[in-house]
Amino acid sequence: KRTLYRSACLALALLVAVTVFQRSLTPGQFLQEPPPPTLGSPKAQKLSGNLVNPKSFWKSPKDVVDPTPTASQGPQTWDVTTTNCSANVNLTHQPWFQGLEPHFRQFLFYRHCRYFPMLMNHPEKCGGDVYLEWESAGRGRGAVRTLFLLGTASKQEERTHYQQLLAYEDRLYRDILQWDFLDSFFNLTLKEIHFLKWLDIYCPNIPFIFKGDDDVFVNPTNLLEFLADRQPQENLFVGDVLQRARPIRRKDNKYYIPPILYSKASYPPYAGGGGFLMAGRLARRLHHACDTLELYPIDDVFLGMCLEVLGVQPTAHKGFKTFGISQNRSSRMNKEPCFFRSMLVVHKLLPAELLAMWGLVHGNLTCSRKLQVL
Ligand SMILES: *[C@@H]1O[C@H](CO)[C@@H](O)[C@H](O)[C@H]1NC(C)=O
Ligand SMILES: *[C@@H]1O[C@H](CO)[C@@H](O)[C@H](O)[C@H]1NC(C)=O
Ligand SMILES: *[C@@H]1O[C@H](CO)[C@@H](O)[C@H](O)[C@H]1NC(C)=O
Ligand SMILES: *[C@@H]1O[C@H](CO)[C@@H](O)[C@H](O)[C@H]1NC(C)=O
Ligand SMILES: *[C@@H]1O[C@H](CO)[C@@H](O)[C@H](O)[C@H]1NC(C)=O
Repeated sequence: KRTLYRSACLALALLVAVTVFQRSLTPGQFLQEPPPPTLGSPKAQKLSGNLVNPKSFWKSPKDVVDPTPTASQGPQTWDVTTTNCSANVNLTHQPWFQGLEPHFRQFLFYRHCRYFPMLMNHPEKCGGDVYLEWESAGRGRGAVRTLFLLGTASKQEERTHYQQLLAYEDRLYRDILQWDFLDSFFNLTLKEIHFLKWLDIYCPNIPFIFKGDDDVFVNPTNLLEFLADRQPQENLFVGDVLQRARPIRRKDNKYYIPPILYSKASYPPYAGGGGFLMAGRLARRLHHACDTLELYPIDDVFLGMCLEVLGVQPTAHKGFKTFGISQNRSSRMNKEPCFFRSMLVVHKLLPAELLAMWGLVHGNLTCSRKLQVL
C-alpha cells in the first residue's frame, strides 16, 4: 500500500537502502586513499572539449582541487539554508542557446545552482540503534536502513498537498530526505549530488549503499550475500554497466542529447541508474569528484563522469538487470519469479507487480533448477 501511494504521488522518488554491516569503517582508513589522478594527466584532459564552451562547462585544471576530502574539510550539518539562485541570463545572448529545446534551456539556465536547502532531513539515520535486520542464507547479515529521496512537485497547488502527505508519512516512517528543488527528469543529477553530499555529512562510516529507482525490484537477501565477501574500502561500484554507450541523437528519445551539450562519440563507462551498489568510502570520494564537474542532465551518465575523474571503473554484474531481464519486453522471462529470486535488481515493474513479485519470491516458490547468477 505504501509503495503504491509513493509511486502515485511522486514518480521520481528514489529508493535508497543504506546497508550497514557490522564491520565498520574508520575515518583513518578513508584518508589513506591515494590521491586521485590530477587533471593534468592525459586521462583527465580527455574530459574537456566535449561541451559547448569547455571553459565555462569544465573547470580549468588549475581550478580543480584534489577531490579527496580531508578530515578538517566539510560541514557537519547541511549548510545550504537559502535558495538564491537566479537564471543565468548570460546564455540568452548565445546564438546556439536559442536553438535548443525548452527543457535544455531550462537545464542550462539553472545549471550553476548546485545545492539547495533541505525540507526534510534525518541526521540521525546512520547513528543509534539498528532497527531492521536482514538475514540471508546464513552468510550476509546486516542492518539495512531505507531512505526515500525527493525534490518538490512542479505545480504549486500539488506542492502544498503533497507536502502535507509527505510530512504525515515521514512522521510514521522517518525515512524521507527532501530538498527544495523541482523533482524533474533533468534534476535527477541534482538528486544524485545532494544525496552524495548528505552521505558525506551524516553517514561518513556507512559501509555500502544501494541506490535505485522506485520502480525496481530489489532482492535484499541476494544483495547482502553478494556483499558478504566485499570490503567497504574497496572501490566497489557495481551495476548494469554500459561500456562506450553513445549519446542518443534522436530528438524523440527521452535521453536525447544535442551535440552542443556533449560532442564526444561515447560516454565513459557507467552503471544504469535503475539500481547500483557502491562502497561508502567510494561514495564520499565521488561526492568530491562530482563537485569538480559541471552538471550533466542524465544522472547515471554524470556519475560515470565522476568515476572517470577518480579513475575508477564500474563493475558489471549479471544480477543487475536495469533494462529488464530480457531486452524483449514481451518476453515471459521478465515476469518469471524464479529469475527474480536469483537477481539483485530488476527494472522496472509497476507498483502492483512489485508487490505481487515480492510475495511470489518470498513465498513457497519451487524452481525446477537453481539459476546461478551470483
Ligand atoms: C540574492 O543574490 C543577489 C545577487 O547575489 C542579491 O542582490 C540579493 O540580495 C540576494 N537575495 C537574497 C534574498 O539573499
Ligand atoms: C554572467 O556574466 C557576468 C559577466 O561576464 C559574470 O560575472 C557572471 O558570473 C555570469 N553569470 C553566471 C551565472 O555565470
Ligand atoms: C531544477 O530545480 C530548480 C530549483 O527548483 C529549478 O529552478 C530548475 O528549473 C529545475 N531544472 C529542471 C531542468 O527542471
Ligand atoms: C519477444 O518475445 C515474445 C514472447 O516470447 C515473442 O513472441 C516475440 O517474437 C519476441 N520478439 C522478439 C523481437 O524477439
Ligand atoms: C507454504 O507451505 C507451507 C507448508 O507446505 C504451508 O503451510 C504454507 O501455508 C504455505 N505458504 C504459502 C504462502 O503458500
